Amino acid sequence: MSILVPNILERVAAAGRAYEAEQIGSRESLIELGRDLVAALEIPSEFLQRSFWAEPALSAHCKFAVEVKLFQHLRDAGDAGVSPGDLAQKTSVDPILLQRIMRHLIAMKIVSFSNGRFLGTRLSHELAADNYQKSIDFCYDVSRPSFNGFPGYFKKSGYRLPTSPNEGPLQNAHGTNLPFFPWLVATPPHLDEFDNFMSVYRAGKANWFDPGFYPVAERLIDGFDPSCSEALLVDVGGGRGHDVQQFLTQHHSHPGKVVLQDQEPVIAAIKDKEGLPFESQVHDFFKPQPIQSARAYSLHSILHDWNDEDGVRILESLKPALKPGYSRVLLNEIVLSEEKPTIAATSMDMMMLAHLSVRERTEAEWRAIIEKAGLKVLAIYNYPGVAESVIEAEFRERGAANDKANEVPDVM
Ligand SMILES: C[S@@+](CC[C@H](N)C(=O)[O-])C[C@H]1O[C@@H](n2cnc3c(N)ncnc32)[C@H](O)[C@@H]1O
Repeated sequence: MSILVPNILERVAAAGRAYEAEQIGSRESLIELGRDLVAALEIPSEFLQRSFWAEPALSAHCKFAVEVKLFQHLRDAGDAGVSPGDLAQKTSVDPILLQRIMRHLIAMKIVSFSNGRFLGTRLSHELAADNYQKSIDFCYDVSRPSFNGFPGYFKKSGYRLPTSPNEGPLQNAHGTNLPFFPWLVATPPHLDEFDNFMSVYRAGKANWFDPGFYPVAERLIDGFDPSCSEALLVDVGGGRGHDVQQFLTQHHSHPGKVVLQDQEPVIAAIKDKEGLPFESQVHDFFKPQPIQSARAYSLHSILHDWNDEDGVRILESLKPALKPGYSRVLLNEIVLSEEKPTIAATSMDMMMLAHLSVRERTEAEWRAIIEKAGLKVLAIYNYPGVAESVIEAEFRERGAANDKANEVPDVM
């Protein structure tokens, strides 16, 4: 037996007890230990079978499931499940083809089979929701072709690092010269899929404004001064408002206004704007920020989409709006660890490489671009099991004395 295995099993037992005690981060630790166990036990033939047959076939079957509404049928059938014949009829799929696809989904633990009936699982029921269905479309139709094309693209380009936003794996795979966001805008179904994907890809994880993560009450609400600006929070590039919506639920007695900003087609796609508890505004973040002296500007997964030069330009466009020592800039981003990179961090780095020819950043790289834009990092907040950190920064006028009230002694 590999010497690693008993050690992993001991850690699984400890993480299992933490999970039973509902300790934060224990679920993610158990999944990671499950991966450690597979890595310690799996032999090459099993690795090939899993990575190159089982998992690609699984993602293809998830796309198939979207097309024939498979997960919805299983969800609607509930605990009674559905017979193979009825499922073939509901989906209009050849019964033998369906049986074979279902068998693989059962082996991959996405659905189950009992007493001659197919049953959904917690996972397949959740995947039946519209925003996950569109996320499957996005991942299958947009991301996968870019990943599949990596080796060919890298070889063709002489193994050079892609650095141009309009010439990289995405353009190679999808036959376009447009950068990612303009390409999405030019292909509206993919824009819609992407916005849905963004609305759920962190679902189930703590949000930056949840208790124990970024201390909203102490850092934003205390000291909020309506004479500076009515705005408490501006979500710059906030998509259709999933973050602000949840922020308002979590902090419903907040003072001030909450404003969402994004590109015109994204803001235009928001339904029933008048009934929403936040304002929305079209704003190009490369142009000067129109809302002056808000208490906070949140940029969630924004700067990671851009190279250092553009990242600095985005921060410089924001800087004139910042009231020194009052306005906080909250960069909600992955901070890459060299020693212990997580799959959540490295797979996002691969998404950046595939779609935008950019990269996720280490703490030193974050500090470098923030400081280059003339801002100062106050603290970095983390939360167990969450890939993204909150980097809190502000603008200090040159030569201004340090405002002790704003200092956070240690990076957390
Ligand atoms: C990766 S998404 C992040 C969305 C949201 N903040 C989140 O974390 O879920 C990037 C967002 O930036 C927006 N965006 C791209 N270019 C923009 C620009 N020039 N001005 C404003 N928003 C832009 C996109 O429409 C998209 O909503």
